[in-house]
Amino acid sequence: MSYRNDPYDPKQVALLDPAALAAAVADAEQAFAAAADPDALTALRPAHLGDRSPVSLARREIGALPPAAKSDAGKRVNEARRAVEAAYAARAGVLEQEQAARVLVEERVDVTLPYDRRPRGARHPLNVLMEQISDLFVGMGYEVAEGPEVELEWTNFDALNIPADHPARGLMDTFHIAPPPGAESSGLVLRTHTSTVQTRAMLTRKPPIYVIVPGRVYRTDEIDATHSPVFHQAEGLVVDKGITMAQLRGTLDHFARAMFGEGAKTRWRPHYFPFTEPSAEFDVWFPEHRDGPQWVEWGGCGMVNPRVLRACGIDPEVYSGFAFGMGIDRTLMIRHGVSDIRDLFEGDVRFARALGAGAA
Ligand code: DAH
Repeated sequence: MSYRNDPYDPKQVALLDPAALAAAVADAEQAFAAAADPDALTALRPAHLGDRSPVSLARREIGALPPAAKSDAGKRVNEARRAVEAAYAARAGVLEQEQAARVLVEERVDVTLPYDRRPRGARHPLNVLMEQISDLFVGMGYEVAEGPEVELEWTNFDALNIPADHPARGLMDTFHIAPPPGAESSGLVLRTHTSTVQTRAMLTRKPPIYVIVPGRVYRTDEIDATHSPVFHQAEGLVVDKGITMAQLRGTLDHFARAMFGEGAKTRWRPHYFPFTEPSAEFDVWFPEHRDGPQWVEWGGCGMVNPRVLRACGIDPEVYSGFAFGMGIDRTLMIRHGVSDIRDLFEGDVRFARALGAGAA
């Protein structure tokens, strides 16, 4: 905004009065001194150095002076303005230093303090191993499947060709779920094996079916060094056209090498399972066993019994399949030379750290 004050009006130029200028400077100095931090100081700038500040207004009034008075007045105004600028800069310097000093104190970090020493915990080795097994089979095109741990007796037994009067049913030490009041049976059990998910997979999918099922199972075993009422299995199931036992063999040998090293292989012994025909139990050759290279029992397997396929609505004339199941706890114990299964369930973080994520 240009400002002309013509003709000369003594009232308008009052700001050019030396006393008024001195008062403006003193005002500014006082205000700056009261600013507590750099932001507060910045907020004062318009009032004391901005367009509408006394020193700026005074400069504008110079134009209204008679030429002879201009130079004198100009000097005074400039001095006053420089004084305000200097007061501002001095206060700014002080406040910035104070703030820097305050930050050093308030945001101080004592690097010699002990860091967070709370134990971090560790992933459980069984979970890590179940993941490794899942990954291995996913790599071969399998899908990871799951099922409930509280299971229908039908799924745990009947659908797997183990009817109520079948001796195998009595041999599995089953936890039964208590019946509701007045009822004779709940029809529910804690699943005794992951084979239950064979049925579930076949009822919810159409062939070709390739699933791997790691999970928890229950049996009424007394706890000792080699028994736990809760343990883990991985179940594999394949149903497709033209599936043969040779493919089962190749799959298990590959599985064995992934778990026990390149020198590992499987050995089969004829066996009986109601849900596979023919069936076998298989051992794994573990070259690095802590007691020297040897065969160790690993799991059961076989060609899916046509009766099981039929119970799940799959035509055994068109499709065939193989299945296998093995103990995960056992695998972990054999691999790492763990002699007491209770170590797996006590939750000691040192055990988990030694055998968990990262441990081979
Ligand atoms: N379910 C059996 C068990 O818990 C293991 C098993 C045997 C699974 C043979 C299978 C199989 O899939 O074909 O002892």
